[in-house]
Amino acid sequence: MSIISKGHFKKIYIAGHRGFVGCALARHFAKNSAFEIIAATREQLDLTDQKAVEAFLAQTKPDVVIAACGKVGGIHTNATYPADFIYQNLMMEANLIHGAWKTGTKRLLNFGSACIYPKICTQPMTPDLLMTGKIETTNEPYAIAKLAGLSLCTSYNKQYETSFITAIPSNLYGPGDSFDLEKAHVVPSLIRKFHEAMMKGLSEVTLWSSGQAKRDFLFVDDVAWACEILLKNYDGITPINIGAGKSTMIKELADLIAEMVGFRGRIQWDTSKPDGAPERFLSSSEVRKLGWIPQTDLKSGLQKTYGWFLKNWAREEKREQCASL
Ligand SMILES: NC(=O)c1ccc[n+]([C@@H]2O[C@H](COP(=O)([O-])OP(=O)(O)OC[C@H]3O[C@@H](n4cnc5c(N)ncnc54)[C@H](OP(=O)(O)O)[C@@H]3O)[C@@H](O)[C@H]2O)c1
Repeated sequence: MSIISKGHFKKIYIAGHRGFVGCALARHFAKNSAFEIIAATREQLDLTDQKAVEAFLAQTKPDVVIAACGKVGGIHTNATYPADFIYQNLMMEANLIHGAWKTGTKRLLNFGSACIYPKICTQPMTPDLLMTGKIETTNEPYAIAKLAGLSLCTSYNKQYETSFITAIPSNLYGPGDSFDLEKAHVVPSLIRKFHEAMMKGLSEVTLWSSGQAKRDFLFVDDVAWACEILLKNYDGITPINIGAGKSTMIKELADLIAEMVGFRGRIQWDTSKPDGAPERFLSSSEVRKLGWIPQTDLKSGLQKTYGWFLKNWAREEKREQCASL
């Protein structure tokens, strides 16, 4: 199906603009005065409230909606709050997608996640492999909500000729990420653990899992740029991956981070803790054909992230920066 409204757009509503990905998107689009960013904090607009979302979209009339919102977290939080993960993510996606259609916004960018691919999957993973096997159980409620979001987009496109696309980013890291150990993904949690061990002069750090799993780590600002390229150029109905083009073993990542923060002790692996999927490496050939290529390699991205952590992590500065939008 061909899409109607790719190409030119000005007014962008970033849902979740104070979050990790939303903040990177806001930074990215704010650099170019051709764009006008619309935003609302959670206190101003609860995205699980259907009526409120519709009223907001009807009033603001964006050209494009970017759904950078969600209930997001690591293995522990997913396991503790499975109902919140499925319910809140389903509600936010459904309200934004249905609301955009109902109020006449034809272009929307929704986010999937690498965890929506089957746990055991040919690598690198391509979108035709989605829903061909069982997904990883540790974050199943979250992944099912994300798959529903993807299907909502394609269904509205088919029935209503909207132009809603789903981008599937790999494991993102960068400035503005959460370093709260309850919620953090692998990169921020390793940075914080090694930094604190180094500060306390510890001789050993114990990390969860065997360290053998492989992931595709992408700097968050690179995703923001990919989103602009997709919104301008992509009109396919197939979801599109955005990955770094390289798969890195968690052990290798831990060594890189330990060296970067100056931790010289031993790393122990607690193999009683789960590895998750053995590998999640995204094929990014389609987005690369559109002219996107990641600008930040893992080493320099980690340095930028650590610099941000040292300066901000305890002060919630990112929220203050983005709250002023
Ligand atoms: N991080 C990754 O590695 C990654 C990878 C692939 C895909 N994604 C996708 O990217 C999107 C954003 O993830 P993220 O990592 O940026 O998460 P995040 O930092 O937790 O940000 C989520 C944002 O959603 C907002 N939000 C949550 N519930 C809300 C509600 N009921 N009403 C209004 N706003 C609400 C949060 O508001 P507050 O600021 O008030 O908390 C926050 O701004 C998600 O769809 C996620 O699946 C992320």
